[in-house]
Amino acid sequence: MPEPLRIALAGLGTVGGGVIRLIETNGALIARRAGRPLEIVAVCARDRSKDRGVDLSRYPWEDDMTLLAERADVDVVVELVGGADGPALALARRTLAAGKGLVTANKAMIAHHGLELAQAAEAAGAPLKFEAAVAGGIPVIKGLREGVAANAVERIYGILNGTCNYILSTMERTGRDFGDVLKEAQDLGYAEADPAFDIEGTDAAHKLAILAAIAFGSRIDFESMAIAGINRIRAADIGQAAALGYVIRLIGLAEHDADDAGRLFQRVQPCLVPRAHPLAAVDGPTNAVVAEGNFSGRLLFQGAGAGDGPTASAVVADLIDIARGLTGAPFSVPVDALETLAPADPSHREGRAYLRFTVTDRPGVLAEITAAMRDAGVSIESLIQHGRHDEGGEVLVAMVTHEGPESGVARALELLEGSASLTEPPLVMPLLA
Ligand SMILES: NC(=O)c1ccc[n+]([C@@H]2O[C@H](COP(=O)([O-])OP(=O)(O)OC[C@H]3O[C@@H](n4cnc5c(N)ncnc54)[C@H](OP(=O)(O)O)[C@@H]3O)[C@@H](O)[C@H]2O)c1
Repeated sequence: MPEPLRIALAGLGTVGGGVIRLIETNGALIARRAGRPLEIVAVCARDRSKDRGVDLSRYPWEDDMTLLAERADVDVVVELVGGADGPALALARRTLAAGKGLVTANKAMIAHHGLELAQAAEAAGAPLKFEAAVAGGIPVIKGLREGVAANAVERIYGILNGTCNYILSTMERTGRDFGDVLKEAQDLGYAEADPAFDIEGTDAAHKLAILAAIAFGSRIDFESMAIAGINRIRAADIGQAAALGYVIRLIGLAEHDADDAGRLFQRVQPCLVPRAHPLAAVDGPTNAVVAEGNFSGRLLFQGAGAGDGPTASAVVADLIDIARGLTGAPFSVPVDALETLAPADPSHREGRAYLRFTVTDRPGVLAEITAAMRDAGVSIESLIQHGRHDEGGEVLVAMVTHEGPESGVARALELLEGSASLTEPPLVMPLLA
């Protein structure tokens, strides 16, 4: 029997428990495919007495997580603790410094410290893999690193947060408002008790930063990403989008600047997606990523973006690669060879946009808004004023612009800033082309 790949598991929560169940269930077929068995030789979590639905008595327990990195009987540490910094990062650093492999599902840590960790992995000649960090069970990192490797990627975009997608598609199906559906998502376990990371777009932005680095062969750049979440979307916006033939999805998108290939545009923002687009059919907590290669054309990766089974599937796929000796540079290209792409100039972007104004119901308001559009050179394709008034005498004015520079819309909003007619800042959502 060939030598097993010896694994230490840090974190025995949703994903850690899933990894144990998967290895226990599929161990024999994995050993055949990997050419050697995967063996869990140590585990660690905070609370040893917690019932995790798996029998842990056969796995040696380590009280101090960082000691997993020092154990002579461990080849690979699997970090499933979470958090960009703190114990997860300390463990990752120690593991790679000790020359051991590291597999992680931790998108926050990779988005913030991925380059440092990749450098450490390269210096130590140790594998670093993070398939599960992006879109759960979908093998999109593998798809980009291997399947699309021959292409120049022109654009990568997708639905990267299952919580947001669940909320938006439920709002769409039921006509209910954001707060109400968020509460339901929390009760059903689709949203965290503190949902900020998801609904404000940060989680999707972590994943997009990782995807963009791999797709464009560039240094990961989370800091310059533009991020907007879904918390300002109202049932009326969803209804308006539907009337126009669109659905609303939180989209993370990265592409080269239209006028300067040395710059990268990265943004997470709710967008209007045409009903005929494959992303419009992505419902519930599902994730989907579209990669457009210059020879492959448009590819769609779709599946469960979270959950114990799908995420464990991605973690163990990484372990199988390591067992087979298939590693390579963590970001496909060695860190020193990654390009440094400056943030794109937003004034270069063109497109159509949906704008929604919430205004006090009095004469002249519409004229004020349309005048600002005219003065900023924004051409309006359609405009709808909602007849429905709620208690405050508030009226919604929604419009879609013709194709034009995004900077025009930004200028129009500047002109309206401080207007006594607006009851809240306007909501802008690009139309996905
Ligand atoms: N859940 C998903 O569907 C999913 C999908 C993709 C990626 N991920 C990523 O996978 C990672 C794990 O997520 P999860 O959902 O499995 O989290 P989780 O259920 O909260 O589990 C975290 C585990 O880490 C342990 N832990 C926390 N701090 C520790 C410390 N200081 N020392 C030792 N153990 C510690 C916890 O121990 P106790 O159990 O004893 O408290 C728990 O077992 C995160 O990076 C997450 O972003 C999760």
